[in-house]
Amino acid sequence: MSTLVVFESFWGNTATVAQAVADGIAGPVEVVGVADAPTPLPHDVDLLVVGGPTHAFGMTRAGTRRDAVKQGGEAGHEETGIREWLAALAPVPGLDVATFDTRAAAVRRLPGSAARGAARSVSHTHLGRVVDTESFYVDDKDGPLLDGEVERARAWGRTLRS
Ligand SMILES: Cc1cc2nc3c(=O)[nH]c(=O)nc-3n(C[C@H](O)[C@H](O)[C@H](O)COP(=O)(O)O)c2cc1C
Repeated sequence: MSTLVVFESFWGNTATVAQAVADGIAGPVEVVGVADAPTPLPHDVDLLVVGGPTHAFGMTRAGTRRDAVKQGGEAGHEETGIREWLAALAPVPGLDVATFDTRAAAVRRLPGSAARGAARSVSHTHLGRVVDTESFYVDDKDGPLLDGEVERARAWGRTLRS
């Protein structure tokens, strides 16, 4: 059985967290950007880890993705984010799902996180069983990740298949 880590990222911070989480997970792990993420999931995937940047208190939308690109984020995947990708998946019996996001540390007390939005989507569509949800923090919209967050992401990854 194997793990698939799917992420979206405009300045690379969520991509860095995705790789760190993957580094912590035991066994075979594939890390893939959402634009290249498979639909349906490969049959051997029993743990899905999905993460994205928090935009406007939740998962990205086409409009927030365009805003991110206008603000200097990487262009090319404005059409599909984790919101759309998750919504297109049918329920997978026995699938565990963990969700994460990156968020601005300055507004960490504000409610709303892409990770929680993704978890709600997974529950709503019965895609799988949500096993954990975590946030990692950036200093500003383009990063960098706060000190220690990459190590925390790796440690979180270790907990997901233990
Ligand atoms: C359009 C837009 C909306 C955002 N909204 C929020 C928000 O509601 N809460 C928050 O904590 N961060 C917000 N941010 C900051 C992002 O979370 C930050 O850019 C992201 O973590 C960086 O990850 P990336 O490099 O993987 O894109 C927003 C950023 C953009 C561009």
